[in-house]
Amino acid sequence: MQNMLRTQIHQSTAASQCFFFLQSPFIHRSNGVGSSSSSLGFRRKHNFPKKKKISLSNIKAQSSETIAATIDQKDVTVKADITIQLSVGGFLSSIGLSHGLDDITDLLGKSLLLELVSAELDPHTGLEKRAAKGYAHKVKQEGDDVKYAAEIVVPSDFGDIGAVLVENEHHKEMYLKDMVLNGMPGGPVTVICNSWVHSKFDIPEKRVFFTSKSYLPSQTPSGLKKYREKELESLRGNGEGERQKADRIYDYDTYNDLGNPDSSADLKRPVLGGNKEFPYPRRCRTGRPPCKTDPASESRSSSVYVPRDEQFSEIKNLTFSATTVYSVLHAVIPSLETAVLDSSLGFPFFTAIDTLFNEGVNVPDLNTKKGFLKNILPRLIKALKDLERDILAFETPELILRDKFAWDRDEEFSRQTLAGINPYVLKLVTEWPLKSSLDPEIYGPQESSITTEIVESQIKGVLTLEEALKQKKLFVVDYHDTLLPYVNKVREINGTTLYGSRTLFLLTPESTLRPLAIELTRPPSETKPLWRKVYTPGHDSTACWLWRLAKIHFLAHDSGIHQLVSHWLRTHCSMEPYIIAGNRQLSAMHPIYRLLHPHFRYTMEINALAREALINAGGIIESSFSPGKYAIQLSSVAYKAWRFDQEALPADLISRGLAVEDPTAPHGLKLAIKDYPFANDGLLLWDRLKQWVSDYVNHYYPDPAQIQSDHELQSWWTEIRTKGHADKKDEPWWPKLETRDDLIGILTTIIWVPSGHHAAVNFGQYHYAGYFPNRPTIARVNMPDEDPNETQWKMFLEKPEVMMLMTYPSQIQATKVMAVLDVLSSHSPDEEYLGETIEPSWASDPIIAAAYERFTGRLKELEGIIDDRNANREFRNRHGAGVVPYELLKPLSEPGVTGKGVPYSISI
Ligand SMILES: [Fe+2]
Repeated sequence: MQNMLRTQIHQSTAASQCFFFLQSPFIHRSNGVGSSSSSLGFRRKHNFPKKKKISLSNIKAQSSETIAATIDQKDVTVKADITIQLSVGGFLSSIGLSHGLDDITDLLGKSLLLELVSAELDPHTGLEKRAAKGYAHKVKQEGDDVKYAAEIVVPSDFGDIGAVLVENEHHKEMYLKDMVLNGMPGGPVTVICNSWVHSKFDIPEKRVFFTSKSYLPSQTPSGLKKYREKELESLRGNGEGERQKADRIYDYDTYNDLGNPDSSADLKRPVLGGNKEFPYPRRCRTGRPPCKTDPASESRSSSVYVPRDEQFSEIKNLTFSATTVYSVLHAVIPSLETAVLDSSLGFPFFTAIDTLFNEGVNVPDLNTKKGFLKNILPRLIKALKDLERDILAFETPELILRDKFAWDRDEEFSRQTLAGINPYVLKLVTEWPLKSSLDPEIYGPQESSITTEIVESQIKGVLTLEEALKQKKLFVVDYHDTLLPYVNKVREINGTTLYGSRTLFLLTPESTLRPLAIELTRPPSETKPLWRKVYTPGHDSTACWLWRLAKIHFLAHDSGIHQLVSHWLRTHCSMEPYIIAGNRQLSAMHPIYRLLHPHFRYTMEINALAREALINAGGIIESSFSPGKYAIQLSSVAYKAWRFDQEALPADLISRGLAVEDPTAPHGLKLAIKDYPFANDGLLLWDRLKQWVSDYVNHYYPDPAQIQSDHELQSWWTEIRTKGHADKKDEPWWPKLETRDDLIGILTTIIWVPSGHHAAVNFGQYHYAGYFPNRPTIARVNMPDEDPNETQWKMFLEKPEVMMLMTYPSQIQATKVMAVLDVLSSHSPDEEYLGETIEPSWASDPIIAAAYERFTGRLKELEGIIDDRNANREFRNRHGAGVVPYELLKPLSEPGVTGKGVPYSISI
């Protein structure tokens, strides 16, 4: 083991404890996965012919079941072309005994039974018209698609086809993509399915698929009413029993599955949701049995149920998010953990951090998985040809690639509150002194120790504090009240610490921010009195180093709040109730379901994976972030302040004092900071989303009274408020749903969360946090001047770098987080970006198709505006020497880690 880095912090001599192995040759940054660019043009993946209405009423009726019998020449023979997608583990996989039986079923030509359902009931009898049936047989395979075909005789008085019932005669489920029914007088009818169809041997109930025409409930054609209601009933389920893999049931439960008390008492966690202490959004109910040692907790399982159609990991081409995240969590992280015995081992010296990028990490266990992991994670796992082994090597993050010293500068520290990955926390200071609302008896004085004198000494005579306040020039990121109640608890955990913190900034005439002070507070405990101190950018070496350390503490707090609140709680977690309610209450033929569905895709599965290995007891977040086992509880504390209405970007900006209403300003808002890249680009995107939603809503609800009478829509909104976000059901701020404007506001807010909001906090994670000194997730030791002892203070004075490395994450913490952030920041090769591809149901209505085309055009324009802004020297928060341009809200992206691209939904 030559070239082993020598640790200076820990006196470990065990070779296995220091796992950085200097590799040669150096690995250089590649351009990411692929470099193909896609145009923003109105790209149609499907070519769906328009459906014309032609009456068949003059065609003589005839039974359709006897295909071989004499066919009246006025009957119509419909040729159905069906596309099944190859899947891993489903039908047509080579696994399982039933494969042979299914081959025979195919040979006999009885593999899928289709029943066409007339849109209208028989006008004479008021009964359902007899369904036209026929078996589909396998025709050919084209790549991953398997084509089936059927011929079905449709009686002359059948009318329009409204739905198709499907029965899968195989022993295994099939992934049905679409059906095209040719031969109807009105032209081909397309039925988009994209759904798993269970085997009739598992569930006897047939599946129903509706055509792409959307109907409000009151407009449902008579022949489809029964199917519309039955399908929703089936999706809601009965709320009982453990959910099985083939189920398509959407139901609610609390977060009682994060702990694992049966495995260890240390892994018991409180139930989040359904109680006053820990309010929380609901997750999807899985119905697993309770734990033996704690009946309030649900037992854990190796795979977590999500409704069948939310599971995409088994379909080829849609494997990226689930597979890559799963591989990092289940293969790379455990390999890292086995490679290092001392999980508290820090980096031996500062430059050792660079070896992660230019030399890689030798993780012996990776070689047992050689090839497999390299194919899935080509960015992370590199082969060393001369040494014939795979290593874990990180790409140099964009921030460091552009400016190696950016992480240490105060200007960059401030800039990232406006253009970094957590642009949701900065607030205008409106009262002085800063004040806590915590109980002073328990937590000490409510007034902050950042005094007027401290601030004025930093402003340096340019302004008085009063003037700065009056001119709206003081801003703060205030984590004091959120964190302080956890400080003493967290300090009982080995290897971490915590403070309450506040960071104060001054707005300069150039529209940039300058940090003035960081206040760190330790509340009183049974053994120690209150301790708090205000740090300012120093003018001597000791003060400079203390300031640097205080910034590390603040950044660890900010990393936690970013990940737990801005990212997890406010996007991933809050979306799940909208998705569950959408599937339970809005029919697949409801226009609002069809508007929202692209924004729902893949989220439940990625959230299930997060509950399994990221936010669970002992998971990545708990083991690598400052609050440790209290991390996810902090997101519950933050949920207390969560408000649906303030998830709308304009309302969010106003609530933080970052904007005021101004009818004369663009978007009707005047920003408090002119160059606020997230807000400036975000508002443009918000306006475009709102325009598209308005066009859509106005088309489907020409009469505003239809909104109040739409019982599916009303049930959906009621359920979001009373079941999905049940702990908030009595809040007065929930918007009403009575007018078109109400609906447009609600839908734009819901759509903004998985698109603009999620993109802003997700896809820049590796750019900014991949180099952990810029955003450490944990600060492991206290400030050297908190209760200093002589030895510690002496060490700080002699070698402050050592104190900094002791404060930073350990080697294992840093590399685990880097591997996770790398994959979380990635776009899959078939990512679905806003405005890129039209949904078949949108395309089938010419008015909606035209509105979508306008939306696409406006998004294309947004790309140009963002490029222009990034090239403008006046915008110093997004342009300048070594500055990473702000591209997080540019709609399109190439695959890989690009720091841009706004997908429809949260898939990673
Ligand atoms: Fe995410």
